[in-house]
Amino acid sequence: MNAENGVIDAILNRRSVRNFSNKAVPDDVIEKLIDAGIHAPSALGLYPWSFVIVKNQNMMKRISDFAKPIVIEGLKKSKGGGMTQRYLEMTGEEGFSIFYNAPCLLLVLGRNNAAFADIDCSLCAQNIMLAAHSLGLATCWIGSARYLEKDSGLVSALGIPDGYHLVAPLILGYPDVAPEMPGRTEPGIVWVK
Ligand SMILES: Cc1cc2nc3c(=O)[nH]c(=O)nc-3n(C[C@H](O)[C@H](O)[C@H](O)COP(=O)(O)O)c2cc1C
Repeated sequence: MNAENGVIDAILNRRSVRNFSNKAVPDDVIEKLIDAGIHAPSALGLYPWSFVIVKNQNMMKRISDFAKPIVIEGLKKSKGGGMTQRYLEMTGEEGFSIFYNAPCLLLVLGRNNAAFADIDCSLCAQNIMLAAHSLGLATCWIGSARYLEKDSGLVSALGIPDGYHLVAPLILGYPDVAPEMPGRTEPGIVWVK
């Protein structure tokens, strides 16, 4: 599909980026992205999200060091497919961070008592990723970071409020690469006319 307008262009050209320049991301830009995020639709108009922004590299390393062995164990046990083998090789490399060299980590948190929080927060995260792309920034959803919740010390050090859980850990920064689009598989489509 060719880009037809700004939104479709952003959807088609946004890529998960895993290599960032050392240019810092200003706080007001992050606030702008969060504002784009919270304009996502939300079931029952509950808007059940909250955010933690981590710019502290020691904290990002602490999360990565905690999550990495769990990620590696999970990958070894998984059935494979997609990027599994390549990711397993990368995670085993000396000094590998699950956050690559990103200057910033944005956590989208969902409220536990909102029935559709995970869906709402995923829509919010996609808004953030597309808005970031449109402003010349890049993101990557780092599912590997979800294990941080297994460490209550980390949860409290990050200031994750009671009654919220992690839905979308997104790294954010100015890209140092322009990755090719990974191939898409043909979707199953049923037409009922
Ligand atoms: C829920 C979710 C979890 C992901 N977790 C990781 C991850 O831990 N590490 C990583 O490098 N990429 C991760 N990704 C990025 C995917 O690998 C990427 O979206 C996919 O390869 C398609 O590439 P694209 O985003 O450039 O279109 C994740 C994406 C999603 C949606």
